[in-house]
Amino acid sequence: MSDYNTSGFDSANMFSIDGRRIPFKPGQTILQAALEAGVYIPHLCHHPDLKPHGSCKLCTVTVNGRNGSACTARALPGLEVENDTPALNDRRRVLLQMLFVEGDHFCPGCEKSGNCQLQALAYDLEMVAPHFRHFFPKRTVDASHPDIWLDLNRCIMCELCVRASRDIDGKNVFMLAGRGANSQVVVNSPTGLLKDSALTADDAAAQICPVGAILHKRVGYSVPIGQRQFDDATIGHQVEYLARRHIPIKPVAVDAPKMPEKEGV
Ligand code: SF4
Ligand code: FES
Repeated sequence: MSDYNTSGFDSANMFSIDGRRIPFKPGQTILQAALEAGVYIPHLCHHPDLKPHGSCKLCTVTVNGRNGSACTARALPGLEVENDTPALNDRRRVLLQMLFVEGDHFCPGCEKSGNCQLQALAYDLEMVAPHFRHFFPKRTVDASHPDIWLDLNRCIMCELCVRASRDIDGKNVFMLAGRGANSQVVVNSPTGLLKDSALTADDAAAQICPVGAILHKRVGYSVPIGQRQFDDATIGHQVEYLARRHIPIKPVAVDAPKMPEKEGV
């Protein structure tokens, strides 16, 4: 039974997640409605300011017996959604393991550690080992920009930077090139280097990377390890905490305040 305030919602606009009643507004996706109601569905390529992309598949849920992406599926009256089940979480762990071995995610040496959504999700889903053989990729590292560092070895191809640059900044600094396993993010500039692009440090595209692929220079350890966003409370707990206080969820904010540990969830 939901403890979310459902007054003001048309009772027809309700569905369930793991047996809990969730209100939704017409047009909302399952993921949007879930997050607003304080139910965490794991996700990596979703951002509240951007259109759904449906590529990472972390948000896969079972809807009336069939699997689908919660970030692209519309919420409809009476849907019965399964989210926090052993089978779905096993599948999510495998997807995470594949992301970890496919890139260069040495968490202890990465300055995004503690603020990284990939790492936070691995903790949330209790992933204890990468399981698959590492690829050890050798991709572009571009340190040419005065304020931004780009390390595509840590890119998880969520395309958040591509979408943010196009749809929020109106600059198209980042684009996708290549096909299938050979596709990667490239920089749109005469030289292909970030320093010759239109990117500035305050662009949404410069803030939005959920992992350590796009980083701001000179601030890496300004928030010490131990005081970072996900150091004490899991990402799932934090999303639920924010939703219940009607605080907009911007999960990739580097300077986001830490949440109190396990407060009334
Ligand atoms: S650089 Fe970051 S934001 Fe861009 S696609 Fe890769 S992981 Fe996503
Ligand atoms: S958040 Fe739904 S597919 Fe990535």
